[in-house]
Amino acid sequence: MGRECLPFIFLMLLPVALVWANPPTLNTTSDLINIEFGHRFPRHGLHLLYFIAHELVVDDDDVIIPNFVPGRGDWGFFSYSDSKRVFPPLLDQNQQGYYSVGNLNLQISYSLPHFVTQSYRLALGSAERNRDRVVVRTSPNREYLEAVYITQCYPLNDPRSNQYDPQNTWQISPALLREIRNLSANRKDSLSVFLYTASYDVSSINFNNYCYYTGPDINIDQVEETSGQQPPIDYPAVNKRVTLSNSYNHVECFEILLEVKATDNGYARIRWSNIPDRLLDKGVQVNVCKDGSCLTLPIDMRSYGTYDSGESLNKGLSPRLQFIQTKSEMMCGPTYDDTDRKLPVDIKGFDASLQLYTKDGYACARLIIKNTFIDWKNKFGNSWVGFYSDHNKYNYNYDTHQWVTKFQPEREAEEHDMYVSCSNMAIRPEAQARFFLHKEYVSIAMTIPWER
Ligand SMILES: *[C@@H]1O[C@H](CO)[C@@H](O)[C@H](O)[C@H]1NC(C)=O
Ligand SMILES: *[C@@H]1O[C@H](CO)[C@@H](O)[C@H](O)[C@H]1NC(C)=O
Repeated sequence: MGRECLPFIFLMLLPVALVWANPPTLNTTSDLINIEFGHRFPRHGLHLLYFIAHELVVDDDDVIIPNFVPGRGDWGFFSYSDSKRVFPPLLDQNQQGYYSVGNLNLQISYSLPHFVTQSYRLALGSAERNRDRVVVRTSPNREYLEAVYITQCYPLNDPRSNQYDPQNTWQISPALLREIRNLSANRKDSLSVFLYTASYDVSSINFNNYCYYTGPDINIDQVEETSGQQPPIDYPAVNKRVTLSNSYNHVECFEILLEVKATDNGYARIRWSNIPDRLLDKGVQVNVCKDGSCLTLPIDMRSYGTYDSGESLNKGLSPRLQFIQTKSEMMCGPTYDDTDRKLPVDIKGFDASLQLYTKDGYACARLIIKNTFIDWKNKFGNSWVGFYSDHNKYNYNYDTHQWVTKFQPEREAEEHDMYVSCSNMAIRPEAQARFFLHKEYVSIAMTIPWER
């Protein structure tokens, strides 16, 4: 959509723009009940909203302060131009921006947590599984969010399927964000509580291979027990059988876990569990695929286990469950994210951050420099990054290191420049990178240890 068309279109659409420029605001979780957004499997919107609400803080003056940086691409946020004017016009095009998150077809979304991508991975081939988005508007100083919206793409069979539907776009008030965070504070099953309160349609999950309708002959006591205030879904629990129910339906699901993790020497370890006997008897296998080629694991009819492959850890490894006979795939595990789904950590006192990631099984570091931090090469002239195979090691006990001046340019994200360096240390659980300003062993940034 060329920007040069805008003045003309703007005149033509002015009445429409006035109507739609301000999406209605939802103020409480009960306002969420009667909207379409994310309410039926495999839509992921309510899960995504829950996640984003927990990644920000709403202060007493209703200021929304995110823990993430949309302009850095955290959680897969990308700049959204809003050429169709679904959202209010920006007052300052250069200083503000709209950012969208939740397009699960994109590689940048691999870092979203498993519970957000779960229905997408279970409902292979469904046209409904990638429609929901959360959109935020950043403030001129980028320190807070001026607004949070939920929206959805038109259905795939609509010619406008790559556009957001203004009639299903809503602003989420700071009070509602606070309520979502608060609703379930300190509860392990807080996502279930939220989904239940927002009236997520549990019975819509009843169409895949590892959930089955347990029929009307279900014990009445049991139905009553689970249909009261009790949250219906125990989620994102793994490794067990859960019963989903509302007053009319009773569904049992096996929460099959398929996961890629790191071995101690930079290779992919595949973990699977909770594959039901019913499927093992039919004949299923676990594949790990990347760019169209797959490796098949010998799971030997075991419902759980691990397998250390000879495959170097890389972004995009995707574990899948497949019927042996028909070769049809029934679900995917989370696609491996080369950052271990960890956001960059701030380098204290500077507009820069540090991230550990892996390439071909080696530990690499990414420096993300805000593009207003122009003299970083001077400030970081004596700086270095240490790579540690174990985060319990002392600062001086690094496995290997690299000078910041030797980092190579990787790419430019909107307001950030990225520089990278790969070490000869294999990535492994507990691995960590640390940033040192000078030659002294005082680190001013430490990444979160790589997960086991
Ligand atoms: C939310 O609050 C605003 C401002 O008080 C009001 O205009 C709007 O109608 C409310 N939304 C709903 C869904 O009640
Ligand atoms: C948060 O929850 C507590 C107890 O559940 C309640 O008393 C409080 O009013 C809630 N606060 C907000 C802002 O919703």
